[in-house]
Amino acid sequence: MTSPILVTGGTGTLGRLVVPLLRDAGHDVRVLSRGRHQPTSGVAHVTGDLLTGDGVESAVAGAEVVLHLAGGPKGDDEATRNLVRAASRTGVRHLAYISVIGADRVPLGWLRSKLDAERAIADSGLPWTTLRAAQFHDLVLTMAQQMAKLPVMPVPGGLRLQPVDARDVAARLVELTLDKPAGLVPDLAGPRVYGIAELARGYLRARGKRRLMMPVRMPGKAGRAYRAGANLTLDGATVGARTWEDFLAERLRPGR
Ligand SMILES: NC(=O)c1ccc[n+]([C@@H]2O[C@H](COP(=O)([O-])OP(=O)(O)OC[C@H]3O[C@@H](n4cnc5c(N)ncnc54)[C@H](OP(=O)(O)O)[C@@H]3O)[C@@H](O)[C@H]2O)c1
Repeated sequence: MTSPILVTGGTGTLGRLVVPLLRDAGHDVRVLSRGRHQPTSGVAHVTGDLLTGDGVESAVAGAEVVLHLAGGPKGDDEATRNLVRAASRTGVRHLAYISVIGADRVPLGWLRSKLDAERAIADSGLPWTTLRAAQFHDLVLTMAQQMAKLPVMPVPGGLRLQPVDARDVAARLVELTLDKPAGLVPDLAGPRVYGIAELARGYLRARGKRRLMMPVRMPGKAGRAYRAGANLTLDGATVGARTWEDFLAERLRPGR
């Protein structure tokens, strides 16, 4: 295949891991970003904004495969519809997407917008693949760092996570993107389920810190859904290799 693979979100946490894997597999890559970037070997950048639609047509032009990773706290539904509209006008033969486990079960606005984005892709008429992944270790680390700034760490009772390493997600997505369109594939979760207090204790131990923890209750329907484990996939998930402890040992290694 000679046409470049378009990666939206190629500058993000996940995208920065995906792009070199696609290069290693021998593909030229085009990254859509709102910012301007210098090209590197085999990686071109197109400036555009999926929310306004600016630059999206030029980004999609000539790309037969699109891996859609761009996302934010809100508007992923609208951004995805804009991408789908542009991709439908060109000859895209595979549109791959990353979503979140629980998008169809947890009643929160940003998850609802991920679900609507999934639907826009499934209804696009284009051949597609969607992978739902659990929270990345990087996100859990950011949450733990924020919580540890407080003298007492708030710990939502009954909330569990199956954090997954973004490198495992990147590798799976590249495999899926280069394969035939497969529709909604099995979820990708981390190797263990943790309570929030356990994740926080792992972080504190790795940093040599101590904090008191205070249980808090997540209110409303979303709280009930989380306590019921609607954000987890306990059966039938593909499981990433790296644990939270592996990630912490590497990321918080002295001298890093
Ligand atoms: N983080 C998690 O725990 C997690 C778990 C499961 C699934 N996901 C999904 O995985 C994807 C990537 O997550 P991430 O953590 O790598 O995200 P991230 O680090 O926050 O990066 C977001 C990316 O989206 C791009 N982007 C945002 N708004 C855009 C817009 N309007 N137009 C064009 N590009 C835009 C950004 O590009 P520029 O800033 O260069 O424009 C950036 O590359 C998201 O779809 C997210 O929902 C994340």
